[in-house]
Amino acid sequence: MIYTVTFNPALDYIVRLDALTAGALNRAKEELVIAGGKGLNVSVMLKNLGVPSVALGFIAGFTGEALRCFAEEKGVRTEFIRVDGVSRINVKIKAERETEINGRGPDIPGFALEQLENKLQALPRNAVLVLAGSISGGLPQDTYARLLQGLPDHIRVAADMPGDLLRTVLPFRPWLVKPNREELCEVFGLVGLETREAALYARRLCELGARNAIVSLGDDGAFAYTERGEEFFIPAFRGRALDTVGAGDSLLAGFIAAKERGESDRDALRFAVAAGSATAFRYGLAEEAEVLDLLKRP
Ligand SMILES: Nc1ncnc2c1ncn2[C@@H]1O[C@H](COP(=O)(O)OP(=O)(O)OP(=O)(O)O)[C@@H](O)[C@H]1O
Ligand SMILES: [Mg+2]
Repeated sequence: MIYTVTFNPALDYIVRLDALTAGALNRAKEELVIAGGKGLNVSVMLKNLGVPSVALGFIAGFTGEALRCFAEEKGVRTEFIRVDGVSRINVKIKAERETEINGRGPDIPGFALEQLENKLQALPRNAVLVLAGSISGGLPQDTYARLLQGLPDHIRVAADMPGDLLRTVLPFRPWLVKPNREELCEVFGLVGLETREAALYARRLCELGARNAIVSLGDDGAFAYTERGEEFFIPAFRGRALDTVGAGDSLLAGFIAAKERGESDRDALRFAVAAGSATAFRYGLAEEAEVLDLLKRP
């Protein structure tokens, strides 16, 4: 079974206006509320690809309850831990320009973190554990490392997180890491990354402890370095990007789904890139049929 962890899931309130005037009453032309959070996105995308998973993490208050309902309605099993407060709301204002306000989210007390730790230590054999996104709730930056410390070896960890956090999990030999360009630059203190340099740094992630590394390169595609010492580059599919939010989460879900089906690393990366592109080409996370359509292209 696959388990995803989201520390700080959010409701995204997306509102469209003609013009935004600060200090005045603005009226929405259109509005939309969707659930977000990286681990939760991975769970929903896995479900879209026909692969079950369990979403773990922390929720609070009525917004947390809405997040739980959203996930369950999508067919994702949830075992969220409830804490006091309210799960955050992120406001995305689409006017002439885009303005975003991301909520902070609830505090996560030590005993709630311990509950998560206990859950992870009891995961069944051969579970895949996806740790995605930032640490929140006033917890220290070594929280992921702490969670991994007590974890049995048979659990395959997939880590997708900001570079400073990614660095802390590498010594625990994660099965897969998936930085994007920016996150990879954070890990190695780089100012920028040319696509052709991805190979070098993917390999270095593996030298630092990752068993497999995928570097996602937005509309360039993705590069993988595997535990067999193989390297693959798959270019992104061509098309009109409408909304790239969740493209990386879709890529990660795509790779895991393909590996669960026993595909080779190369085929899994191709499927993953198609999943990322299919999500970039629409609003919200892609459906399986859209991914398969891209793969059928000559
Ligand atoms: N404009 C685009 N056109 C085609 N494919 C895209 C585009 N943007 C992203 N993708 C696909 O999605 C994958 C992941 O994208 P990206 O590297 O931007 O991830 P990310 O920054 O981690 O995204 P997020 O964290 O917002 O989900 C890429 O490897 C590619 O396959
Ligand atoms: Mg990402």
